[in-house]
Amino acid sequence: MKKIAMIGTGYVGLVSGTCFADAGNEVTCCDIDQDKIAKLLQGSMPIYEPGLTELVTKNLKKGTLQFTSEIPQAISHAEIIYIAVGTPMTVTGEADLTYIKQVAKTIGEHLNEYKVIVTKSTVPVGTGKLIASIIKEQTDTPFDLVSNPEFLREGVAIKDCLNMERAVIGATSENAWQLIADLHRPFTSKIVKTSVETAELIKYAANAFLATKISFINDIANICERVDADVTKVSEGIGLDSRIGQSFLQAGVGFGGSCFPKDTAALRHISQNVGYNFKLIEAVMETNEQQRVHMVNKLVSALGTLEGKTISVLGLAFKPNTDDVRSSPALDIIPQLVTMGAEVRAYDPIAVSEVKKRLGYQCTYSENLYKTIENADACLVLTDWQQVRQIDLTKVKQIMKQPILVDGRNLFELETMEQLGFTYLSVGRPIVKQASLATKGL
Ligand code: UDX
Repeated sequence: MKKIAMIGTGYVGLVSGTCFADAGNEVTCCDIDQDKIAKLLQGSMPIYEPGLTELVTKNLKKGTLQFTSEIPQAISHAEIIYIAVGTPMTVTGEADLTYIKQVAKTIGEHLNEYKVIVTKSTVPVGTGKLIASIIKEQTDTPFDLVSNPEFLREGVAIKDCLNMERAVIGATSENAWQLIADLHRPFTSKIVKTSVETAELIKYAANAFLATKISFINDIANICERVDADVTKVSEGIGLDSRIGQSFLQAGVGFGGSCFPKDTAALRHISQNVGYNFKLIEAVMETNEQQRVHMVNKLVSALGTLEGKTISVLGLAFKPNTDDVRSSPALDIIPQLVTMGAEVRAYDPIAVSEVKKRLGYQCTYSENLYKTIENADACLVLTDWQQVRQIDLTKVKQIMKQPILVDGRNLFELETMEQLGFTYLSVGRPIVKQASLATKGL
């Protein structure tokens, strides 16, 4: 059992801290946001994550998990201090290290004996050294530094944390490495031992590689559309080669979320800073932006003009099972549709309030799928929610003004759409056209 202080109760800190507590460690999750801490103590989560409330409540009761805004006390009490504060993207695409630097200073001010300090936040290569130098400005107390990046996917974060495919640990001493490796043994047997700098880079390399797979298959999808091929079959055909693998080859509207857009931009920056022109990552980002524009173009080709047309946008979260809308395709696409004169009605089962905060009343919102679709000129699918996947298409066709569906997630079978009489434009698959509709130019 280890005594851990987790500084930052955002997504990563809260999930990781709770899972460490569940494995029997004594964990204090801290945050400067007192309101957040007060809510957490009452069992109210700041994020939507399946299973999190239950696991937090269980460990609060057991006494293995605590929440506090008294960060100095938590630092003094712990033998391991995790830094899990945010590193948002600046306008230039760099990671903003303001919070990291503040926390490093606080740790330095309150370091009362040897401790192991671990970065969990995604930070540019070299940040470990920066943290060490900030701490050393405040104190002569010895410490070790470790980089231990996270690979949690939103929506399945608890599962990912309790059953890690691997843990990556880069440490400044063998003692510190062993301590953090022991902490991870209940979760995984695969532990990669590296230097601090290598661990920092692994996080960016992992996310950039996954983002590259997505942009690659989206580029292939765009070729498929020009040669009448089917990208879902291309994914299957290449993915069964174990060297390629089937995951992350679903063509669609492109990636969003708090990690891929931010981390690809940060990796480009890291490369520029060391004088390397990472052309591939540049192309990955560009393809991703274009994919969003592409969805709007599909609507225009189906409707002729968007002026005065009612468009139902189905799905606002960047992926299902989360209310996270950071860098979500919907945030880019809805304002474009509104600018082009469309009346937009947006549906999402849980992310409506998050989008309202960002887009305000550029469109109307609903948590009722069929109400959103009623009398629409076209539907645009942006998130692969189960509710949308399982929609009653016969009913949809009856209640729409005209049965036009643009699908950014390839949710439906082409044959079904044809039989039901839809005009159906998906990604990287042949267009289903309805002769009865005036969809000239398709
Ligand atoms: C990602 C990484 O998977 C995780 O390891 C890391 O720690 C944080 O970033 P997350 O952002 O939660 O996790 O989402 P993920 O499930 O990876 O999906 C990212 C985006 O890619 C979503 O917008 C999703 O819709 C899109 N995607 C994913 C595709 O478009 N096609 C695919 O085949 C897979």
